Amino acid sequence: MAHDNERINDDLAAYWMPFTPNKGFKANPKLLVGADGLYYTTSDGRQVFDGSSGLWCCALGHNQPKIVEAIREQAGKLDYATPFGYGHPAAFELANTLAARMPGDLNHIFYTNSGSESVETALKIALAYHRLRGEGERVRLIGRVGGYHGVGFGGISVGGMVNNRKFFGAMLPGVDHMPLPYDEAMKFSHGQPEGGVQYADALEEILTLHDPSTVAAVIVEPAAGSAGVYAPPKGYLERLREITKKHGILLIFDEVITGFGRLGYATAAERFGIEPDLITTAKALNNGAVPMGAVAVHKNVYDGFMDNGGEGVEFFHGYTYSAHPLAVAAAQAAQALYDELDVYANVRALEGYFGDAMHALGQVDTIVDVRNIGFMPALTFAQIDDKPMGRSSQIFQKAYENGLKVRLSGDHIAVAPPLVSTKEDIDILAARLRKTIADVG
Ligand SMILES: Cc1ncc(COP(=O)(O)O)c(C=O)c1O
Repeated sequence: MAHDNERINDDLAAYWMPFTPNKGFKANPKLLVGADGLYYTTSDGRQVFDGSSGLWCCALGHNQPKIVEAIREQAGKLDYATPFGYGHPAAFELANTLAARMPGDLNHIFYTNSGSESVETALKIALAYHRLRGEGERVRLIGRVGGYHGVGFGGISVGGMVNNRKFFGAMLPGVDHMPLPYDEAMKFSHGQPEGGVQYADALEEILTLHDPSTVAAVIVEPAAGSAGVYAPPKGYLERLREITKKHGILLIFDEVITGFGRLGYATAAERFGIEPDLITTAKALNNGAVPMGAVAVHKNVYDGFMDNGGEGVEFFHGYTYSAHPLAVAAAQAAQALYDELDVYANVRALEGYFGDAMHALGQVDTIVDVRNIGFMPALTFAQIDDKPMGRSSQIFQKAYENGLKVRLSGDHIAVAPPLVSTKEDIDILAARLRKTIADVG
């Protein structure tokens, strides 16, 4: 009997694809060969609407001339600069730009190359901060069920997506999880659901169990993305901030998806009027043009390192490609475009229109929930014969055939078009999704 792999086209065999059913993909590949504006070009010559902004990252659409030019120019000027013990001017300029976009006193920037690295960095900052200040007993980290914080061991430990954890051993010790703040009563909510503050109160119970003085940080996505898009209930984040502050625990907002416009503001923290201690970012930071992430750090935390870190290296952490010149150039260009094109205002203006269009799709039996906030609505599909992802994976495939790229996550389909999309673009997206839902049935 032929082994599965032998049936796979030789040209595709060598690449072990991430978070992808490799055998299925290689039997029926979806190859993207070009991109411009809101559309991908496929290897069979079709134009596919990018209803996932790449992977939540291409917020300004693809092939943005100013970003392309910035990368090109930088590559010819300074291709790489050592980040340990050296710097390059653009990295400092970008840090100033980013700090100015962060809420309150989060005015220091640590560069990484991905969301996962931003999360690992933030968790390590939290642990080291407490230790440097003489509170080394603060070793616990609290995440949340359904949380996605990338794929490093810290991230999967505080994360709460079962498949991302169960194959990989015992995780970090000293981690606990709050519940996902969502229940039946919140189904089909527009924006932030009512009545979920008790989910934040669950943190108090967890803290009592462990003794709050042993906890270093709480990390949450202010609006959950990869688990299927869950907006925070009204008052929930406020309560988390209150509790963490009361106990001297750092609050980390993982804004790898929500950072830079997805919710109509530079950060979700700004939208919800909350000042966390750390914000992790990546993705839309530089429009996904070159891998990059960044952690924004509160002044008090940074000062904690500077005041207590001695004369040498204050934080033993960093990456070969931190502040990579090409990534920095792309980020500076992207940040300028967010202002120039008033991108966040576009999201705020169209959020209601977009949400209504998605809720209108939800009026069929096969859809069991629709949630929306900013430019990141999601639809939950009924399973077929109790098989997880039975229907949603068909929607994912059929949408692609119908010229629409969406994000599949369990039984959920998340829709996250570039933030420069117009009403007409949203109409196109909604029409393709409607046809797909009807086709799949
Ligand atoms: C909230 C959040 N954190 C972290 C990550 C990990 O980012 P990356 O895939 O760049 O490592 C993601 C990726 O989707 C994310 O959504």
